[in-house]
Amino acid sequence: MKNLQRSFFSAGLMIAAVCLILASCTKEGPVGATGATGAAGPTGKDGTNGKDATENCKQCHAKAVVDAIATEFEMSKHNWGTTAFEEAGNTSCTPCHAQKAFIYVCTNNTPTAFTYNATTKKWENPYVTAASDAIGEISCFTCHSSLHTTYGATDLALTSVAPVAMTMWGGAKTINLTQGGGKSNLCAKCHQPRPLTCSGPAANDSRLLNYDSVKNFPNVVMFDSAAPNNNKWVRPSYRMHIHYGAVSGVYAGMGAIEYPGSVSYSNSPHTTVATCQDCHMADPMTGVAGGHSFNVRNAKETPLSSSTTWNFNGCNVTGCHAASPIDANSAKWKGTRTEIKGLLDALALKINAAGSGHDLLHADAAATNLWAGVTTKNYDGYMDIYGAGTNDAGYWRDPYNTSAINLTKPKFPSLKFVQMGAIINFQFCLREYSLGIHNTQYVRALLTNSVEALNAAGL
Ligand code: HEC
Ligand code: HEC
Ligand code: HEC
Ligand code: HEC
Ligand code: HEC
Repeated sequence: MKNLQRSFFSAGLMIAAVCLILASCTKEGPVGATGATGAAGPTGKDGTNGKDATENCKQCHAKAVVDAIATEFEMSKHNWGTTAFEEAGNTSCTPCHAQKAFIYVCTNNTPTAFTYNATTKKWENPYVTAASDAIGEISCFTCHSSLHTTYGATDLALTSVAPVAMTMWGGAKTINLTQGGGKSNLCAKCHQPRPLTCSGPAANDSRLLNYDSVKNFPNVVMFDSAAPNNNKWVRPSYRMHIHYGAVSGVYAGMGAIEYPGSVSYSNSPHTTVATCQDCHMADPMTGVAGGHSFNVRNAKETPLSSSTTWNFNGCNVTGCHAASPIDANSAKWKGTRTEIKGLLDALALKINAAGSGHDLLHADAAATNLWAGVTTKNYDGYMDIYGAGTNDAGYWRDPYNTSAINLTKPKFPSLKFVQMGAIINFQFCLREYSLGIHNTQYVRALLTNSVEALNAAGL
């Protein structure tokens, strides 16, 4: 595909030249200027015929280009996933789930800093699209939004490579992966964590959780099991989470709750050297991994525990791991993933200790759990709290739900800020999916130091 891309772009230059010829030759000659007194000039001669206009189209509309890539793209969850349909019409969800909404937030550089609305007495998250744009499946035109503008090679330009002000942090932190012309920022714009917001009282309603407080005041009780309504911060629920896009935060080494501890915070070389595309669009494809499938694993529906195969072609290029190629048994792969799985299991154990015998974290061994196999007990990053229609079998009582079935369940334990921080960090490290491959050093520090912070708080 790389060769193809090169030949495509040089052909594009030729096409640009052809366009100029077409523009000047296919029209009739100009009509003379109408002066105050003069009559219209004579009609010019017909120009010589230009080249067939479809030549232009063929640069893309060829078996080896659009047709081939469209076939690869069929294997991408961007294409077959259902969230574009499920979230259609929702102005706060579609900026990452729908075609037009993504282009809207890119074009308008939609801000992420929360604002206070004095009338409703609530905080508002401005990262939304216009209602008319809350639609569209993710397609070629989502990432290449200039397609069919000039009909030249530049139409393939990426929709955005600009730095990404993190919505989770209300814009207080910015992901900027500059390598490769910033092309990872395209992915980061959507694959980023979402904000945790507070509940009342009035002036605090829907306000962004102050993550600095979560870090600096580990012993403050956020949720008191005996007095749930004293909680001014985040209300425990089944989906008390940072959403599913932790990857870019972890990759950039920012956004989690960085408790001090025995491992210092630093980043693996990937953060500044590799791009998302290097590993996720590897060339050549193997099976359903690489290219425009965006997969690394060539067995998406096979559990991690079975004989899952991988496309390592992106890893083993010159300048990266060519000298000592990565395979499924390399220490850099297997050793890293085993270590991080162990650390995830250890942090889960520590978080769950507050349940005195029953886990706080929700587990699900079914293949519909995206993170099945990432931890030994198959956690998915949710809390095992009752949720009508979402987690009916939930073990713990939802502290803010008065339905009869909910009230039969045991009360959810109290949570200090350090426990909230540890849960956030667990979600970050679980939901980056790669068991540390994205940024081993950051994940190792978060997991190790979170356990130490819980120990220091006597938990
Ligand atoms: C820079 C690359 C490029 C060029 C040049 C190009 N196209 Fe396309 N075109 C695409 C892509 C990508 C798609 C989407 C394919 C898909 O969804 O599988 C597309 C889709 C289409 C479609 C399907 C309808 C749609 O909008 O999805 C038509 C019709 C089409 N192109 C016509 C043309 C014609 C006619 C020309 C020349 C005048 C042309 N294209 C030039 C890239 C290009
Ligand atoms: C417009 C937002 C958007 C952009 C840009 C985007 N993604 Fe995605 N991506 C998504 C969404 C949404 C899903 C899940 C779709 C679904 O489940 O319906 C997804 C799914 C994926 C998956 C599959 C996840 C799984 O659970 O199997 C991978 C891998 C992925 N994206 C990688 C990338 C990479 C690499 C880039 C940059 C080249 C990128 N994405 C750019 C929104 C985006
Ligand atoms: C900042 C971008 C962003 C926003 C805003 C966002 N999502 Fe997502 N969401 C993603 C990405 C990226 C994925 C895919 C993550 C992956 O599979 O790695 C995803 C995945 C999902 C999934 C699929 C989970 C699964 O199990 O397959 C659902 C459902 C979902 N989002 C619902 C929502 C809803 C509902 C909203 C609004 C309340 C929303 N999202 C807002 C980025 C976002
Ligand atoms: C999620 C974002 C995303 C989507 C969706 C997407 N592309 Fe791309 N595409 C990219 C990125 C990123 C690159 C640049 C790859 C690189 O530089 O390593 C690219 C590169 C290309 C290229 C240049 C040749 C190559 O393969 O590097 C073509 C042609 C192309 N895309 C066509 C398509 C077509 C056709 C579709 C729809 C079937 C599509 N793209 C959908 C992100 C996307
Ligand atoms: C060094 C290689 C590498 C780089 C660079 C990389 N990833 Fe990954 N990524 C992986 C591996 C390995 C997995 C685990 C895949 C699996 O289990 O199927 C993964 C998983 C994912 C997933 C979960 C979906 C899936 O396929 O299961 C998403 C989404 C994702 N990465 C997005 C990104 C984004 C966005 C970037 C850039 C900010 C990026 N990745 C950079 C290697 C990489």
